[in-house]
Amino acid sequence: MGKLSVFLFVLSFYTIVNAGSGSHSLWVLATHITGETPFPEFTVVVMLDDVQVGYYDSNDKQIVYRGQHITDKTEDDEAQDGDHVFGDIYQGMKERSFNLKRHINFTEGVQVLQRMAGCEMLDNGEQVMFMIKNIFNGIFEDYAVYYNMTHSTYDAGKIILGWDGMVQAYKRTLCENVYLPICIKSLKSFLKREKNVVMRKVPPRLRLIKKEVSGGFQVSCLAFGFYPRHINLTLLRDGQPVAEQDLTGGEVLPSGDGTYQLRKSLEVSTEELKKRHDYTCTASHLSLDNKLDVSWESGAERVYLSTLSALLVMVLIVIILGIFICVKRRWSNTASQSELTNVDANVSEEMNVSSDSET
Ligand SMILES: *[C@@H]1O[C@H](CO)[C@@H](O)[C@H](O)[C@H]1NC(C)=O
Ligand SMILES: *[C@@H]1O[C@H](CO)[C@@H](O)[C@H](O)[C@H]1NC(C)=O
Ligand SMILES: *[C@@H]1O[C@H](CO)[C@@H](O)[C@H](O)[C@H]1NC(C)=O
Repeated sequence: MGKLSVFLFVLSFYTIVNAGSGSHSLWVLATHITGETPFPEFTVVVMLDDVQVGYYDSNDKQIVYRGQHITDKTEDDEAQDGDHVFGDIYQGMKERSFNLKRHINFTEGVQVLQRMAGCEMLDNGEQVMFMIKNIFNGIFEDYAVYYNMTHSTYDAGKIILGWDGMVQAYKRTLCENVYLPICIKSLKSFLKREKNVVMRKVPPRLRLIKKEVSGGFQVSCLAFGFYPRHINLTLLRDGQPVAEQDLTGGEVLPSGDGTYQLRKSLEVSTEELKKRHDYTCTASHLSLDNKLDVSWESGAERVYLSTLSALLVMVLIVIILGIFICVKRRWSNTASQSELTNVDANVSEEMNVSSDSET
């Protein structure tokens, strides 16, 4: 239930959030739907970095953690906190949705309000930021609040008239003293719970691929199977990094198995490919002490091939010579043997003849 909207939201989230590798973040992705759909009115996905750790919806009204369903509510304080927080967000978004809808005269059909709220913390425990952002019907930006521990910025969005100074000050206090501490506390406890997942380090595997495309060739540098998602991948030509604007691709994509992949491709004309160049693909990643690289030399293929064929011809000649010599030897052996046999045959024939003549 709610899978589609959740999926779309999570997808957009990947492109929005790109925290550094030395930090962790917790995000609540909430969706409120007004109107008839097969989905619950309100759904929440909780993401720790890029891993979904919790789910909540308005039908069940209780948080489901990854891999464990808390049935006894008194069992877990966090679950209770979570249910409480999500209940509040539900009410808040319901009202906001109602106001937005009324304001832009949407009386019928399906309206979707999405909210992204979360915080980021460095590995050393230093808090970095808290943020709330709202999108209405996928395109209209509603209000956003950003707080970076010293300053807070507020964007009223493009739909309803913004808050006045007093409401802004109140919301800022709320962010600093309520939302941020709750978010950081949850982030820490999720980190403890999921450390085997979000703190694991899986090194990339690297491939340099040459593919024929219309108008020439594509030399691609592919890194795959790595975690976390932060990676530096560089394509070098003769030791010089190829400028990013000459490359296509370059977006880190989830592979679907909890790891990531990244491809950077360079278009190379057929003439260029015939020239001798050294292409090297280099990756640096949290899981690697040293850089990983793989190289390939263009234009060397023909040289290589001709060397190879010369070698092959030589080997063939040797083999043929060998066979020839062997055959010749065996042939002369068999020849003398068959001469003997012939002699024998002649003898026996003669003997036969003689025996015939005897009878
Ligand atoms: C909504 O409708 C009211 C009255 O029908 C009108 O005054 C107002 O301009 C409309 N607003 C928009 C955004 O179309
Ligand atoms: C927070 O944002 C303000 C204004 O954008 C900036 O001047 C300040 O340096 C930022 N603080 C931190 C800790 O990043
Ligand atoms: C990628 O390069 C940047 C800039 O040189 C560096 O700060 C960062 O740590 C590198 N990231 C990885 C994963 O090696």
